[in-house]
Amino acid sequence: MPETTSLVAPSLPAKPQREELILVLDFGGQTAQLIARRVRDQNVFCQLVRHDLSLDRIRELNPKGLILSGGPASVYDAKAPKVDPGLFELGLPILGICYGMQLTCQTLGGSVQPGTKREFGRTICQVTGTDPLVAGLPPSMTVWMSHGDQVHDATGQFVQLMGTSTCPFAAVKHRTKPIYGLQFHPEVTHTEHGGALLANFVKQVCGCQGTWRISSLIEREVAAIRERVGNKRVICGLSGGVDSSVVAAILYKAIGSQLSCIFVDNGLLRKGESDKVRDRFQNHFKTDLHVIDAKDRFLNELAGVTDPQAKRKIIGRVFIEVFRKEAESIPDAHFLAQGTLYPDVIESGANVDGPAATIKAHHNVGGLPKELGFELIEPLRELFKDEVRRMGLELGLTEELVWRHPFPGPGLGVRCLGDLSAERLEKLREADAIVLEELRSAGLYRTIQQAFAVLLPVQSVGVMGDGRTYEEVIAVRAVQTDDFMTADWFPMPYEVLQAISTRIINEVRGVNRVVYDISSKPPSTIEWE
Ligand code: XMP
Repeated sequence: MPETTSLVAPSLPAKPQREELILVLDFGGQTAQLIARRVRDQNVFCQLVRHDLSLDRIRELNPKGLILSGGPASVYDAKAPKVDPGLFELGLPILGICYGMQLTCQTLGGSVQPGTKREFGRTICQVTGTDPLVAGLPPSMTVWMSHGDQVHDATGQFVQLMGTSTCPFAAVKHRTKPIYGLQFHPEVTHTEHGGALLANFVKQVCGCQGTWRISSLIEREVAAIRERVGNKRVICGLSGGVDSSVVAAILYKAIGSQLSCIFVDNGLLRKGESDKVRDRFQNHFKTDLHVIDAKDRFLNELAGVTDPQAKRKIIGRVFIEVFRKEAESIPDAHFLAQGTLYPDVIESGANVDGPAATIKAHHNVGGLPKELGFELIEPLRELFKDEVRRMGLELGLTEELVWRHPFPGPGLGVRCLGDLSAERLEKLREADAIVLEELRSAGLYRTIQQAFAVLLPVQSVGVMGDGRTYEEVIAVRAVQTDDFMTADWFPMPYEVLQAISTRIINEVRGVNRVVYDISSKPPSTIEWE
């Protein structure tokens, strides 16, 4: 069984760790990886591992401290995950969060009981003790709780550091050991100063200097890729988006000419996409780039299809067929690289508890199936999007690429409502480019998380010059969102709307009306199809 809790091959180093390391023991909490991410924000490498990693292995990895994550169980459940009590004798600083705290206190003799009421959500917490862990915090702050059980009687072994009216032991410290517990979740943004608390643990309590940089991660991945790939060939599918570009860039750094990139032009791409990919991966990074012009094939298969899910299925199937054919024609291809991110591997469980729901990945239809027969390489599998962006910049990708809005796999196929003809797609492509250009020139592109044009399947009457027109309608969509699971429509300044509308109507032939979408998600979705 892998020791890291990612769904893929473990990447913990076999040799003792030279850089500062914090391990998060994963008890199944939906925010466990967020803890790791917050620690990495302190420039300290941090990784999620199985909660039952052996003490020998922990000693070998030589971490500066351990964090025990939250989890869905109650310490009294028969099957509740436990730890080796020897963990608390290693002499390492330990921070237990929620379930991790309850387990810590219970193992060390404290009692855990169901709280008088389940606490779920924001609550005000007072700082009641003095300790490096709570140094610099205000006397009172909002924290995010999500628990049924709580530490009830710390039996004199623990000192209270923070408390709420219903949860006196919201933060505790062991009297003699560097062992701490937090009943609330410092890793979620709803907890004020949660980052500062974790920073205190990592820097003050564990004594980390914070010397880790994203470049260290690149070096580690590059070395791991080289070792795994040997002299074999790796195929990487490029989509034009951030993730696949970063994957290709890191592979190029690792194995150079042993990398072959495949870019399928399905005719549903944004304006200039194909040229940009060529420029980047043929001219800048000199990869063996295969651009497959499959526009006609896609459009033929999609002719007359208007149902959104049917379109998605066709686009997904044809993509796999085209990709597979090209991949099979590349001699010695052994590995397939994919831009899977950590949120993609977090399951969207039915009992999603509180803030965890916000870190789920949006659906990613149109990927490649496992049975393509290649061994998978997923260099980004432990990273969140912002870390991928930092990595991209470090690898020499441009700001423009690294901050691109997400673009769905089925592309303009699900933004061109109704019939997918080459002519209608061209109209949409032009209108979409105008929307994005105007947002960039108004300095709004980064304020908005996703914006695009949609071509509607209706015609409306207009006048142009002396003549009556009967032409198509473009809807403009722009949303602000943290996680793409919910989204607000963006209150676009009138002058920007005006510039977009005027340009589209003047420059895109066959469009005589522009509307702005003022619906939020839910109940609307971000895409129209
Ligand atoms: P919705 O429309 O469901 O979109 O609010 C949420 C996010 O998912 C993207 N999206 C897709 N991405 N294949 C993808 O790769 C798809 O079929 C697909 N549908 C929606 C959408 O662009 C937004 O970022």
